[in-house]
Amino acid sequence: MSDVIEERIEALLRQMTLEEKAALAAGADLWHTAGIERLGIPGLKVTDGPSGARGSQWQGEMTSACFPAPVCLAATWNVELVERIGQALGQETQSKGAHVLLAPTVNIHRVPVGGRSFECFSEDPYLTARMAVAYIRGVQSQGVGACIKHFVCNDQEFQRNSISVEVRERVLREIYLPPFEAAVQEAHVYSVMGAYNRLNGTFCCEHPYILTEVLKGEWQFDGVVISDWTATQSTVPSANAGLDLEMPGPARYFGPRLAEAVRAGQVSEATVDDKVRRLLRLMIRTGALDQPRQPERAIDRPEHRQLIRQAAAEGMVLLKNERGVLPLDRTRIRRVAVIGPNAKTARIMGGGSAHVTPHYVISPLDGMREKCGDAIEVLYALGCTNHKTLPLLDPEWLTPAEGEPGPGLRCEYFNALEPAGQPVRTEVIKRLHLMWIGDIAPGVEPSGFSIRISGKLVPPQSGTYTFGLISAGLSRLSIDGKEIVDNWSSQTPGEAFFGMGSAEVTGTVDLEAGRVYSLEVIYSSRGATFLKGLIVGGLPPLPADPIAEAVEIARRADVALVFVGTTDEWESEGFDRQDIELPGRQNELVERVVAANPNTVVILNNGGPLTMPWLERVPAVLETWFPGQECGHAIADVLFGDVNPSGKLPTTFPRRLQDTPAFLHYPGEGGKIYYGEGIFVGYRYYDKKKVEPLFPFGFGLSYTTFVYEGLALSAFEIGPGEELEVQVTVTNSGPRAGQEVVQLYVQDVASTVIRPERELKGFAKVALQPGESQTVRFRLGPRALAYFDEQGRRWVAEAGEYVIEVGSSSRDIRASERFVLRETWMAPLQLEQASRAPLSLHSPLRELLADPRGAAVLREHLGELLNLPQVRMALDFSLEQIAPFAPQVLTKEKLAAIETALRSLG
Ligand code: BGC
Repeated sequence: MSDVIEERIEALLRQMTLEEKAALAAGADLWHTAGIERLGIPGLKVTDGPSGARGSQWQGEMTSACFPAPVCLAATWNVELVERIGQALGQETQSKGAHVLLAPTVNIHRVPVGGRSFECFSEDPYLTARMAVAYIRGVQSQGVGACIKHFVCNDQEFQRNSISVEVRERVLREIYLPPFEAAVQEAHVYSVMGAYNRLNGTFCCEHPYILTEVLKGEWQFDGVVISDWTATQSTVPSANAGLDLEMPGPARYFGPRLAEAVRAGQVSEATVDDKVRRLLRLMIRTGALDQPRQPERAIDRPEHRQLIRQAAAEGMVLLKNERGVLPLDRTRIRRVAVIGPNAKTARIMGGGSAHVTPHYVISPLDGMREKCGDAIEVLYALGCTNHKTLPLLDPEWLTPAEGEPGPGLRCEYFNALEPAGQPVRTEVIKRLHLMWIGDIAPGVEPSGFSIRISGKLVPPQSGTYTFGLISAGLSRLSIDGKEIVDNWSSQTPGEAFFGMGSAEVTGTVDLEAGRVYSLEVIYSSRGATFLKGLIVGGLPPLPADPIAEAVEIARRADVALVFVGTTDEWESEGFDRQDIELPGRQNELVERVVAANPNTVVILNNGGPLTMPWLERVPAVLETWFPGQECGHAIADVLFGDVNPSGKLPTTFPRRLQDTPAFLHYPGEGGKIYYGEGIFVGYRYYDKKKVEPLFPFGFGLSYTTFVYEGLALSAFEIGPGEELEVQVTVTNSGPRAGQEVVQLYVQDVASTVIRPERELKGFAKVALQPGESQTVRFRLGPRALAYFDEQGRRWVAEAGEYVIEVGSSSRDIRASERFVLRETWMAPLQLEQASRAPLSLHSPLRELLADPRGAAVLREHLGELLNLPQVRMALDFSLEQIAPFAPQVLTKEKLAAIETALRSLG
């Protein structure tokens, strides 16, 4: 099969001119690559993930299934489930007529404030790798390509387009590269997205070491390296470093400029051929070369709804549950108070390119009402707000014109920088969040246009309303002809629109309930760059003390459920969070509600870690992440015990930001961010420094309990390269069926390099009925014991004792056993690596011995002498340095012979 593919590729390549080849290496527009009509080669279409396939529209009527955010998927620790999510995402990608899903995102939770933490799986490379492999296998099983991103170390949003991540090779290999390595070697991922940032000074999309040596050389990646959107910085360095496809189009650096560089002799034609081969391979693998592209469709599949509900519930982590507050007892509860800013408005996803327009959203309040039916009364209060900028203007208050059916407003487009004359296009819009990159709409001139949004506003209640505008471009808002918000005459830069929008400008106006007002918003693309956008916010009058209302209903209820968290404004691509506190007055809300009703459950709805100053006083806490469109159903399933929680934290929750591993290094300065904590990321740091987290990595409670017994290893001593088998029996010792995530950690007891206290190297999820037992088996290969040796430039597991720990979290180890690795294991050297550091009389002894070829030369010439204790003390010295102290042994002749032998190694 693959020979047939390769022959087909060669046949096409032979017919192409240099210009055509270079054109293929660049995008045609935002989501398509260029094609060659003459040869019947169409463009390939890509679409964003990772929690849905959005299609080419940033907004509008084209809806998609919204899956749980990857952090929630990782919290399931269920690879089989994540593979099924991948399959569903593959189907969604096809519904959007696309061939490649730009996902998964596998950057590491290095800092808890990372804007895209919700979009990444975990702080741990092993868990991230397992999730990535399952996800990619699922996506690619549908004939769709995955594009793993962002390669590499795009672990923060602060200055992501320019910052240089300064990181040591060992750290790169042990923490940041493994998910990519597994994706290539195990899941055979079809494409990889190069990151925006620099790595040790060089932009990732023109980094020959990571793209060519590691990815394409060592790992033998045969797919396409795609630049992140506008991350290509050059023609010649990028082309020679291994970037294959510049996105988006039209071409800036590849295309004609690449052809020119070939003619100038700066890039070889063979290099361009390699890019084209890779692209054609991707097109054949995804059917892009053979099947006509389907139009975009929104298909709301019942089986996806069910899968999303299951995964969302399974990712939820029960953090605390005292006095059996949960699960809620239907037979005893008559009235529940549903409280909080995230109760009525579900926060189902984070912000940025991961955003999709969901088919529908089940809010927590909807979910609770449905589950409670007539049997349990549901009271509701907002409690407080948690918006960063004003919530979007509610379409329910709006109609396009008096007497016309709502909800929505009329939106007219003009091909001039201010509205005048006849509009070139008119539509009704409901969501007052508009963004365009590239094309605007048919007939609208992207280089300069304006919009008039108008209609009638009928306020639901009397009082002071606040309106707000954020725009990439200029904007102003008036009511009944009176200007309320001016974001036109002057603007301050803000965070919205990936940092390309203005700060929010607000204005207030008193309105009467039921009266009809004329609303008008004018937008001009003047001053906007390639991204244009407008957000219209509207906040209704709030009660004088909204928390008091919440307290009042909490007092009357049997149980109070407080839904707090963040929103896609706080956790988004483009910027990081400032802190890890609940925004607004949410902490105060929790404190006052629990003071009024001791049966209070806090339900967290967010992407990254949060502090919980009220934790001591609240009996139950459930972390629900950004759980996707089935949010409310999944939460109600867990609260009522229809689903027994089995999620475990994929990331440590710290007590305070100051306790976190990168606190002294983040966010970097002078254009650089030092990864100074090295390999001590996440729990590796908390364990080594003995810092108490709020909740440790791998933690999560269940409504039942599990007992671990009979931990057994296949051997107490193994040879280098041999596998170790580990088994342990887990029993459900409680009253309910449930699932347990059995975690396996490895520790190297004594090492010549600094190593973590424990590292996750295996896990398994088991479903058990009450009283049922299951024996879980793990196999550990030599890599599971190894560290990356920077000098020897390869993986090494040192001889000696290791501990295997098995437990329910990284801080709840239930059993441990020791074994001995008889001799040091070293991964075979890569050819390129070997040629990098030629061995000589000037190499430290340690380096000579770490290389099997160097060690063989020394053994041949020095024999038994190598076993002398003095040799161990001299490991950091070269033979040249040692020679004067051992003239009898290291004679001139001996040194010359060793030198000749080392030189012959190349
Ligand atoms: C993001 C990518 C995304 C791309 C296309 C970039 O800003 O970093 O993750 O796939 O945009 O939307």
